[in-house]
Amino acid sequence: MARGILGGLSDYTKYHFDREEAIFTKYHGYELKAFHFEQHRQFVKQMGSFEEQLNSNADISAEMAAYLSKWLVRHIMTEDKVFFDAYTF
Ligand SMILES: [Fe+2]
Repeated sequence: MARGILGGLSDYTKYHFDREEAIFTKYHGYELKAFHFEQHRQFVKQMGSFEEQLNSNADISAEMAAYLSKWLVRHIMTEDKVFFDAYTF
């Protein structure tokens, strides 16, 4: 089950990050762009690590759920919000 959730989340994350980064790139003046993109890269890297652990049958469901909920809430409510608050579309 965790593998299915992770797979779906990975697909959606790639779609979401690609779209978000395209918007950020359009607004070249956004000073925190490189920092923000690096956070996306680190998240993708962590997802890959979770996938490897799941493939070796490690029980990481609780760790994964804690990381994902904490990272996603913090990123969306702080990092993404800083950018979207700075621009009016
Ligand atoms: Fe973001």
